[in-house]
Amino acid sequence: MAQYRVVSGSVALITIQNPPVNALRAAVREGLFNAIKRASSDPQVRSVVLSGHNGTFCGGADIKEFGNVSLPGPHLVEVFQLMEDLVKPVVAAIEGFALGGGLELALACHYRIGHSKARVGFPEVNLGLFPGAGGSQRLPRLVGVPAALDIIITGRHVAAGEALKLGLLDKVIDQNTVDAAVTFAKSVEGKPLDNHRLGNRPCPPLENMDAFFEEAMKRVHSRARGAVAPITCVQAVRGAATLPFHKGMELEKMLLGTLFNSAQAQASQYCFFAERAGARWSMPSGARWDTCKAKPIGTAAVIGLGTMGRGITVALARAGLSVVAVETQEHQLAEAQRAVSRMLKGGGRVSYSPDLQAAAEVDLVVEAVFEDMAIKEKIFKQLSEVCKPGTLLTTNTSTLDIDRLASCTRDPQLVVGMHFFAPAHIMRLLEVVYGPRSSPEAVATAMQLGKRMGKVSVAVGNCTGFVGNRMLKPYLEQANFLLEEGATPELVDAALEEFGFPMGVFKMSDLSGLDVGWRVRKEEGLTGPGVTAGQPMRIRHSRRYSPLGDLMCEEGRYGQKTGSGWYLYDKPGGRVARSDPWLRNFLEQYRARHGLVARRISQQEVLERCLYALINEGFRVLEDGIAASPQNIDAIYVFGYSWPKHRGGPMFYASQVGLARVLEGLNHYHQAHPDVPHLEPCSLLRRLVASGSPPIDKWSEVVKGHRSQL
Ligand code: NAI
Repeated sequence: MAQYRVVSGSVALITIQNPPVNALRAAVREGLFNAIKRASSDPQVRSVVLSGHNGTFCGGADIKEFGNVSLPGPHLVEVFQLMEDLVKPVVAAIEGFALGGGLELALACHYRIGHSKARVGFPEVNLGLFPGAGGSQRLPRLVGVPAALDIIITGRHVAAGEALKLGLLDKVIDQNTVDAAVTFAKSVEGKPLDNHRLGNRPCPPLENMDAFFEEAMKRVHSRARGAVAPITCVQAVRGAATLPFHKGMELEKMLLGTLFNSAQAQASQYCFFAERAGARWSMPSGARWDTCKAKPIGTAAVIGLGTMGRGITVALARAGLSVVAVETQEHQLAEAQRAVSRMLKGGGRVSYSPDLQAAAEVDLVVEAVFEDMAIKEKIFKQLSEVCKPGTLLTTNTSTLDIDRLASCTRDPQLVVGMHFFAPAHIMRLLEVVYGPRSSPEAVATAMQLGKRMGKVSVAVGNCTGFVGNRMLKPYLEQANFLLEEGATPELVDAALEEFGFPMGVFKMSDLSGLDVGWRVRKEEGLTGPGVTAGQPMRIRHSRRYSPLGDLMCEEGRYGQKTGSGWYLYDKPGGRVARSDPWLRNFLEQYRARHGLVARRISQQEVLERCLYALINEGFRVLEDGIAASPQNIDAIYVFGYSWPKHRGGPMFYASQVGLARVLEGLNHYHQAHPDVPHLEPCSLLRRLVASGSPPIDKWSEVVKGHRSQL
């Protein structure tokens, strides 16, 4: 686990060996501890070089060991202290990356030499933690408080060049890092080490320290959206700045203790795995990620260069594909060309055309024209004629039936959905939607392309709204019902923002445009001329219906783009939402007209009704086999819908709240609103509760049993 050999006569070269990332699991800690002791007592040795096997210094603690209270082997803090106290100089030779515990290890060395391509960082905050094995105390002593706080709070990777400027690395080199470190180690043999033991050094002084930390805390509070870890980062770094090292270490230990087994840390760590779980996709047919091969894709076409098409073009070009961008409207084409070039900063290989014929030779097409079945059907028919045989035809539709589009083509097995999220070049999520006839190879290809674009790709089945938008519908519906019953957009949004969403549901729909849903509802015959005469306004298909969104659109209130929606904006396209007295009046009149009496609605009711309705639909998605696992649903919500990571995604959240409590809540609200089927607990949830609410990673067994009974 830690290989030991003496090189160049006097240098003990210790190499951590624990593929793939040399994580510091118990055996590695033990190996390191023993190797350092050996170097200490070996009379031939006058210096030490610490490196990682196979071009990677160290990826940090082993996340699989987290949550295990009584870990065997020496604690990291002990290993690091032993190393820092060594009377012979220790030089870290950093290749690849030194992350988390790996960077803490490097900070316990007396010198750090990095390869020019190496990266360092403290990603712990993304796991609901902070660098709690001395990292929060040593880094500020080395690079100063502001730089350290930034690195610890953001969890970002710092490139070698920047690390050198900050003083985090002593040297950056292009050649063999271990050789350079050995030469360097020999040059410092016998030299005094005190100033190189970070634990012995005070932090570089900071003017206005109190004001600095006050400001930092304010900033973190406003950005953390209820996450505790970033706040703890500030507290720990403040400890480094104000306390002697040993006291700072005590504070660090105490703070870490409060986080380590917290619900938030568990949720964040769950997200870490959920993010990766999508790659191991499977289809109900039995096709799987490890048995299907992706087709190589070098060229792609994007059809329709509106909001989505532009972002998709950028994402594909950034992934190294050569892209043909097609748009029939002349002014849109010109505008898109300018916007895409700006986003690509002149890079990327993109050509533009008003003619679909330009897609003839590409390997893959992403269609992103208006959400209109008739138009899309026509385009798929044309594409099927124009494109060379074997071209994969994908659609960015957010709700429409993939199989109907497939049936317009010669090769329905080549059709899948690639559902991007706005803005498509930034949002991490990609839903890859397979229809009943999509080939496993087509799915594998879309998944692989998602990976190349840096997306979190999740394979899902074909149904209205797929996974994300299908679950969103009952959530939006509840929000509207709550307005009818007496809530305000401000109250609902505040509850959801306090929960951790960056934006409440009404601010969100103002941003994406109320007209989008209106158009869909008109097409579905829920509003507009398609509605049968004499139907009561608040009932559709014998279920409760809220026409509030339709009424807003009839008033021309589409949200930010028109300057007013659920809120008021200073101008069309304005972004700062203000309360609108018009809306208050409108709601009062609406309630009066329909004989509704406003009641006081608590934030708890808002949360329970909106979130439980969404979660309930999530269970239906699982039950129907549209998503393969709760992890997949949670990844969709965290990466596509900004569900707060420290809450782990809706299904994980349900497991933390307790399935029995969610069931009870749904039962209660369904009794109060029997005309709302989305509040009726689904049978899978009942069954899970009846089976004693197993932990989330055991749900699949209940799902399987449940499906076989259906
Ligand atoms: P958009 O209205 O901004 O853009 C559509 C573009 O397609 C327009 O520029 C239009 O001129 C062009 N177009 C129409 N017919 C065409 C044809 N025959 N050939 C070439 N271009 C044609 O629409 P947006 O928002 O970009 O949506 C596109 C698709 O993406 C829709 O299916 C939508 O449901 C889906 N989507 C939208 C999201 C959003 O947040 N806007 C999110 C995810 C999916």
